[in-house]
Amino acid sequence: MDRLRTIEWKDGAVTLVDQTRLPCELAYLRVETIEQMHEAIKLLKVRGAPAIGIAAAFGLCLALRSFPERGSVHDLVTVFEKNADYLASSRPTAVNLFWAIDRMKARVKQLSAQNLGIAQIKEELLKEAQLILQEDKNTCRAIGEAGLTLLEGKKAILTHCNAGGLATAEYGTALAPVYVAKEQGKTIQVYADETRPLLQGSRITAFELNKAGIPITVICDNMAATVMHKGMIDAVIVGADRIASNGDTANKIGTYGVALIAAAHKIPFYVAAPSTTFDLSIADGTEIPIEERGREEIASFFGKETVPQGVDVFNPAFDVTPANLISAIITEKGVIKQPFKDSIKAVLG
Ligand code: MRU
Repeated sequence: MDRLRTIEWKDGAVTLVDQTRLPCELAYLRVETIEQMHEAIKLLKVRGAPAIGIAAAFGLCLALRSFPERGSVHDLVTVFEKNADYLASSRPTAVNLFWAIDRMKARVKQLSAQNLGIAQIKEELLKEAQLILQEDKNTCRAIGEAGLTLLEGKKAILTHCNAGGLATAEYGTALAPVYVAKEQGKTIQVYADETRPLLQGSRITAFELNKAGIPITVICDNMAATVMHKGMIDAVIVGADRIASNGDTANKIGTYGVALIAAAHKIPFYVAAPSTTFDLSIADGTEIPIEERGREEIASFFGKETVPQGVDVFNPAFDVTPANLISAIITEKGVIKQPFKDSIKAVLG
């Protein structure tokens, strides 16, 4: 299958699909500085929890690009840590961002104790970022295989936002079972909520599935109950930005509503996510920081004002679906079933 390259290191910088320009244009953005990477993450040019993590790892390599070969290792670590804090301020909810930054921080600490030259340390850090990218590809493929076991005999799924190849290095999480099914000659029809306010469902999920030749139908967010009531949906699969110890899951705003509708229609509701999306330092979803974004995302549509001036808007980018509404969590290590309190620990180890 001809896959999109969401993000890659190319000729000494990062190249990524500029997701703000989809579906009108498949444009690639060259990111050369950590400031540009911070902006790309903040403005959702690169988005989706795993992709943000990969972007952060490469971003930290960019931060060291101009660090002098004759500089001290101690200074390099200081510069690295300052930039790590800066990048961590780009978006608050997806834990993969912080996971990748922590992993790169641990690596630089390790390398700084090894009597290596500056050039060698930079090279090893780039290798670590490449490894994060490669691991994500393998992880998502494994999620696809595990997820497909739950879709036996199911013809159509509904998804919210974009948890596809463009939200990861490849395959995606929620969409991975659909891609693996396609590789095996099976067809799963996907219904995508358009996902207001930024339309990740209609712009991005529909774009990548259409490109891959997978049947995709876009609905407005407020049509999810109708398609479920009409019996058009066999299962819901969504991604995640952060999963607490008890299974409470933060994902794109609107996911909670979809979970409630699925429960009312007795349709299984699955979350697909890599183990790096779990935050076992928090007990439940109340501790997940929820990003709030700008007024303009709601108050205008295609350049036209849609909310009267002077009227307030509330724009949380994510919501938390309580664990009791989630039928199972699909990870690269296997499917986590209820009750999550014990099974999360058992599967993640
Ligand atoms: O604001 P976004 O577009 O970054 O939100 C993305 C989501 O909510 C995804 O569902 C989640 O990150 C999982 S991506 C595999």
